[in-house]
Amino acid sequence: MEANENRKTMLSGIQPSGDLHLGNYLGAIKNWGGRSEEFDCFYFMADLHAITVRQNPADLRRRTLTQLAQYIACGLDPEKNTLFIQSHVHQHAELGWVLNCYTMFGELSRMTQFKDKSAKHADNINGGLFTYPSLMAADILLYQPDYVPVGADQKQHVELTRNIVQRFNGVYGDVFKMPEFYSTKEGARIMCLTTPENKMSKSAPEGCVFLMEKPEDIARKFKRAVTDSDTERCVRYDPEGKPGVSNLMNIYAAVTGRSMEEIEREFDGKGYGAFKPAVGDAVIELLRPIREETERILADKAYLESVYRTGAERAARVAERTLRKVYKKVGFIPH
Ligand code: TYM
Repeated sequence: MEANENRKTMLSGIQPSGDLHLGNYLGAIKNWGGRSEEFDCFYFMADLHAITVRQNPADLRRRTLTQLAQYIACGLDPEKNTLFIQSHVHQHAELGWVLNCYTMFGELSRMTQFKDKSAKHADNINGGLFTYPSLMAADILLYQPDYVPVGADQKQHVELTRNIVQRFNGVYGDVFKMPEFYSTKEGARIMCLTTPENKMSKSAPEGCVFLMEKPEDIARKFKRAVTDSDTERCVRYDPEGKPGVSNLMNIYAAVTGRSMEEIEREFDGKGYGAFKPAVGDAVIELLRPIREETERILADKAYLESVYRTGAERAARVAERTLRKVYKKVGFIPH
């Protein structure tokens, strides 16, 4: 498979800073699959990003490989999608530096993820955490994608990338293609099961369902999911008034493909007692084959290695073309 000028391109990545969870799946990975006939697809493990927060090296290695196995288990065929590890393609760090010089301090200061993470890791507010969005812009722009399928929490970074494109192209002409944020309504923002005001995240594990989790643990988490303290106790979509129930409905909709009206009808008169385990069961059945397939793939280290090697080679070919063009435009002497 070669990148082709006439086909559209899709690109996205996930940090291997924690085990993948349902938010990552429904917000991002689910939208990556099945596109390879139509698009040139690039998906990577964002390990350069992961070290903006301290990582245990052995855990980072384990999670990076597990994440690759999970991408494949989620249906991303490595023959049809370019799957790679970010640090294997040195062009990311190089373009990241250049784009740092075209990203404003004020823009970076406004990034919500920076504010959240610096509050959470007050003892390690490092430069990488601050300039992370210009590296993300480099990740994206190296491949000139049309679409970047991510959850709503990453939209701000894609918008910053668009600003960088405008600024850079404004000076040097048409160097980068303008990428579009891509997401789906149900999956864009999966909330925590125990505190539905917050997004689902590994930092609140009781409210977070991990892709590799055992069915009995998933069932328990859904049974304990916070619904709402209203008196009507009926399954009705109302994100403002009933955030807990609406989040479960979002999950159920994203997993089963049903509309909110269909879900309301299905549980009409049944209450939360029937609804919560039904959502749990749907998630268990969704994740069961992914977990089993991940375990099978993970056992074959030679296969995984061949996938990430080939992926990095293909990715580097495309990335190098863009980097050359950028270096030339800004005035570096070719070597
Ligand atoms: P990360 O690693 O935090 O999350 C990976 C993907 O999962 C989505 N996501 C969610 N979607 C819905 N509900 C949730 N609760 C939820 N939690 C996470 C995220 O929106 C994301 O799509 N900066 C990125 C990684 C990255 C990247 C890139 C993405 C680096 N370079 C280039 C796209 C293109 C990040 O931290 O995502």
